Order: sequence, then structure tokens, then C-alpha cells
Amino acid sequence: MKLKKTVAVLLVVIVGVIFLLKSNNNGGEIMAAESKTKINNGKKILVAYFSRTGEQYSVGNIKEGNTAIIGKMIADKTGGKIFEIKVEKDNYPKGYTALTEYAQKEKRANERPAIIGKIDNFADYDTIFIGYPNWWGDMPMPVYTFLESYNFTGKTVIPFCTHEGSGASGTDSNIKDVTKATVKKPFALYGHIAQNSRKEADKKVSSWLKEIGY
Ligand SMILES: Cc1cc2nc3c(=O)[nH]c(=O)nc-3n(C[C@H](O)[C@H](O)[C@H](O)COP(=O)(O)O)c2cc1C
Repeated sequence: MKLKKTVAVLLVVIVGVIFLLKSNNNGGEIMAAESKTKINNGKKILVAYFSRTGEQYSVGNIKEGNTAIIGKMIADKTGGKIFEIKVEKDNYPKGYTALTEYAQKEKRANERPAIIGKIDNFADYDTIFIGYPNWWGDMPMPVYTFLESYNFTGKTVIPFCTHEGSGASGTDSNIKDVTKATVKKPFALYGHIAQNSRKEADKKVSSWLKEIGY
């Protein structure tokens, strides 16, 4: 008799726990779906960025680029789709000084290095976040290749940039010239903060996105 009672109590507890776990899960899913729609404002978002690993100023040898870190945070918070701008022939040196020299030559020659991949459904995107490191007070040349490859008419472009002191150096006006899109004020963050103080970076990204309505 005692055993039967114990088994019955155990069963009730197990069923109760299963019920609780299930309802929590559903709640989580609904919450995620709701918050995503709310943040996106019903807009389809693309997060495109160019970023380098290897030796970078003030952070040493990095495995994940500073701008890439921010790009992933933006995509995560807005539900945007990531497109990494990568060059077909990657001749960029892995050492910092050599990279600065290479990049300077590329900029002086106003090159347009070919990039890998194509976004098929580009027309569907309403908002394009475009990320890059500040290179010599400008965007890296492959970002120009990217911007010149698509029709941005009627779209909103939101630049984000990592740097080590220069901010975004007015790159938004270059983006405006190339794309003729509506270009918002760039979000600029020190590369070493993105790399080494991720919580601080995450907070800054969140409050900026909130401020601009995403
Ligand atoms: C070629 C090159 C040029 C740079 N020029 C500048 C500059 O003019 N102003 C500045 O603040 N930072 C400059 N930096 C520093 C980068 O903007 C910074 O380290 C950035 O966070 C690197 O991002 P990534 O890891 O996404 O490539 C330069 C770095 C490189 C490699």
C-alpha cells in the first residue's frame, strides 16, 4: 500500500516536471519570435562586413577580426543575415606593418579587388549594415567593390566601423556617393574594445541599435 502511494506520488511529480519544462520551452520560442519581429520592424536585414585576422594594431595576433565581432553582434541582435566580403585573391599580409603598406598601395591605385560570392536576392533587403575597419582614413578597397556591385536605390545603409583613433573618418559620405542610398551616421568603435572588452562592446552595440530603432 505504502509502495503504491509512493509510486503514485512519484508519477505525479514526473508528469508535473515534464509539463513545466514543456511550457517553459514554448514560452522561450514565442518570446524569441516576438522580440525578433519587434527589433526588425518587419524589415529584411543584411549585415555585410570586411574584416581581417592576423596581426592588428594594439590587439596582437587575432583569430577573429575586430569588425567581424561587431558584425556578428549586429546580426544576432537584429536577425540579419551575414555576408562576409572576402577577396578572391587574398594577398593581404598577416603582419601589421606589411598590411598597412599593402593597403596604402591598393588605395593609391584606387583598386577594386574582386570579391567572392554574390547575393542573389539582394533586392529583397531593406536595410544593409556595412562594416569595415578604418584603413588610412577610408574604407578598404574591397568594400568599394562590394558597394559598386549592387543597386542600393531605396535602401537604408547603416555603416559600422572599427578603428584605433580616427573614428569613421567621414566614410559615410563616400558610401552615399557610391550607393545613392539613405546612409545613416556610422557606428564607430575602437577595434581593441571589440576584441578585448566584448561585454562593453555588446552594450554599446545594443544601445546604438535601440537608438536607431533596430
Ligand atoms: C591598413 C590599415 C590601415 C589603418 N588605418 C587606420 C587609420 O587611418 N585610422 C585608425 O584609427 N585606425 C587605422 N587602422 C587600425 C584599424 O582600423 C583597426 O585595427 C581595426 O579595428 C581593424 O579591424 P579588423 O580586425 O576588422 O580588420 C588601420 C589598420 C590597417 C591594417
